[in-house]
Amino acid sequence: MVNLINEISTLVKECGKVMLNADREKMAINTKSGIADLVTEYDTKIQGMLFDGLKEILPEAKFIGEEGSSDVLTSEGYYFIVDPIDGTTNFIKDYHYSAISVALLKDGNVVAGVVYNPYLNEVFYAIKDGGAYCNGKQIRVSDSDLSNALILFGTSPYDKDLSEKTFQLAAEYLSQGLDLRRSGSAALDLCTVAAGRAELYFELKTSPWDFAAGKLIVEEAGGVVTTLDGEELSFYKKSSILAKNKVI
Ligand code: IPD
Ligand code: CA
Ligand code: CA
Repeated sequence: MVNLINEISTLVKECGKVMLNADREKMAINTKSGIADLVTEYDTKIQGMLFDGLKEILPEAKFIGEEGSSDVLTSEGYYFIVDPIDGTTNFIKDYHYSAISVALLKDGNVVAGVVYNPYLNEVFYAIKDGGAYCNGKQIRVSDSDLSNALILFGTSPYDKDLSEKTFQLAAEYLSQGLDLRRSGSAALDLCTVAAGRAELYFELKTSPWDFAAGKLIVEEAGGVVTTLDGEELSFYKKSSILAKNKVI
């Protein structure tokens, strides 16, 4: 498994170079489900690189990617679930906060996760029952309670009808914690909680490729990840998400 993480890390670093060297002025940008849901030629290109590279690393694994795939997830066998660029709007704006996320599932459970932020050259990864790491150093969630918490949240930007509820919840957390942040990358929000740099992250609607790798990274760092109702997250559908340390 350690070998596999090394191979995936090498691959995501190659993909990261493509992000950093992108010709943002000339790049093709299209919309998907609505005007805020954007995809660039680099999302597609990186997904292709991941598809090819991961096939070489683990040929028997099937492949689910945000930008489309022919495989359908089942509870048997190996699957990669990838987000080629998590934080596409940040990427388009040159905001320097996006990531590549790769999760490996075995029989319906995540057994390895890698999230790479090329702007900070940080590789977050976790192996089931093997701990969570950032650039080789073990990471742990913090032990601060809500009164000392930095709260991260996502705005579910492709479902604007969720805005009111999102900001209500954010206001409640703000009244009890230290402050709020909205980064633009769900995968990195999860890693930020895992690294103890923030205490809690929530969002009303996310997709499996946003959280599959980050969920394991938080759990292996000693945190908990559920839906906002406290239910187990499903890799088969979109759902709300709540990630936090165990003190809160
Ligand atoms: C989005 C980002 C964002 C989150 C959205 C996601 P994308 O992913 O993670 O932070 O708020 O819910 O869809 O579309 O940039 O890959
Ligand atoms: Ca995403
Ligand atoms: Ca994406």
